[in-house]
Amino acid sequence: MNCCYSSISSLIFIILIFHLISISSLAYPVDQDVDHQHGPSTDQDLSSTMGYSPNSSEDDSIAITTIVPPENEMLGSEEWPSSSYYHRRCPNKSVEQIIYRKVKEWVDKDYTIAPSLLRLHFHDCAVRGCDASILLDCEESERRADVSKTLRAFEVIDDIKTEIEKECPKTVSCADILTAAARDATVLLGAKYWTVPFGRKDGRVSIAKEADAIVPRGHENTTTLLELFQSMGLDVSDLVILEGAHTIGRSSCREVQKRIYDHKGSGKPDGSIKKEYLNYLQRKCRWESEYVELDEETPWKFDTMYYKNLVNNMGLLSTDQLLISDSRTKPIAKALASIPTSLYAHIFGASMTKLGSVGVLAGKDEGEIRTNCNFVNSYDY
Ligand SMILES: *[C@@H]1O[C@H](CO)[C@@H](O)[C@H](O)[C@H]1NC(C)=O
Ligand SMILES: *[C@@H]1O[C@H](CO)[C@@H](O)[C@H](O)[C@H]1NC(C)=O
Ligand SMILES: *[C@@H]1O[C@H](CO)[C@@H](O)[C@H](O)[C@H]1NC(C)=O
Repeated sequence: MNCCYSSISSLIFIILIFHLISISSLAYPVDQDVDHQHGPSTDQDLSSTMGYSPNSSEDDSIAITTIVPPENEMLGSEEWPSSSYYHRRCPNKSVEQIIYRKVKEWVDKDYTIAPSLLRLHFHDCAVRGCDASILLDCEESERRADVSKTLRAFEVIDDIKTEIEKECPKTVSCADILTAAARDATVLLGAKYWTVPFGRKDGRVSIAKEADAIVPRGHENTTTLLELFQSMGLDVSDLVILEGAHTIGRSSCREVQKRIYDHKGSGKPDGSIKKEYLNYLQRKCRWESEYVELDEETPWKFDTMYYKNLVNNMGLLSTDQLLISDSRTKPIAKALASIPTSLYAHIFGASMTKLGSVGVLAGKDEGEIRTNCNFVNSYDY
């Protein structure tokens, strides 16, 4: 099925546009001197980097580009949030360029690392905000939590950090690196570039139990998810929009076996799963250790297929499928199923910016710049 922009109900469409505008207007200053020579700082730069044509059919359908954050406020500000944060602190090297180059190297070798970076960023921000607490590798830290078992891509962040420490030691936080890396990874699979403001500090506290209590595993009810998002300062639209990250990536079969064999202890599969899809899943997920794509149709392409799948009862996780049955999320999910990918990509970027701003440590005495992302700098706490 093709994107059918006209079928969208105009009311929901207006709500979504309004959502985007409200995010953009409280968003962050964009500097005029964003590294044009260095990083892929605009759609245009990035398009050419990626050999993708800006003239693709869906691209001009909406004049969404008129909605941009104010250009001149706080130009060159030293404090969070600022997209020029590292221009003065690391002037001769574009931090963003290093991150992009490294992420691209990794994704070129193994594209499954891209959604893993996105997931790592989400797990980070969900617990104690975006402070790189997920990267700390010590006893009982978030990284050792049960819910973190299938997290990957830590070595990508370490690789980037090592390179950046060579250029500008003790300058760039792991939280900023992870946020930018998640953006770049998503963009490499087809998302639109969005500006990441910088200035996050790294946290010094990381507790496994907190992660296990907070981070969703894929079978929560919608109320629980909404409460989690609310606690992060995100709303119901952000929930539905960010769940769309499942347009890329995969899940371990462990998370779906109950649903396809023994739904809620009934000894039967979840009746809401489309029959053909259920057959496919039962073949694919005989063993817990197997993996299955979250968007069966276009698993490694950033698009709106995830939402179309939900409409067709082909959501992999029960949290996915619930988006289209719960009355609070259904209208939004259905709307997203019918808008062009290019518009969805803009909306997604706006919600990602909100996610990347959750609980940021930026106060005078808050956090630190870790020299090694796996450990806090000193032992004195
Ligand atoms: C895009 O469209 C413009 C105007 O129609 C045209 O001049 C340009 O050559 C096109 N670029 C590509 C890459 O197709
Ligand atoms: C940055 O480059 C300028 C000009 O090339 C040079 O004078 C300066 O020392 C460099 N600064 C750092 C921190 O490398
Ligand atoms: C959702 O899940 C939570 C936690 O498991 C539970 O306490 C709550 O009753 C559930 N709510 C609904 C509406 O099912």
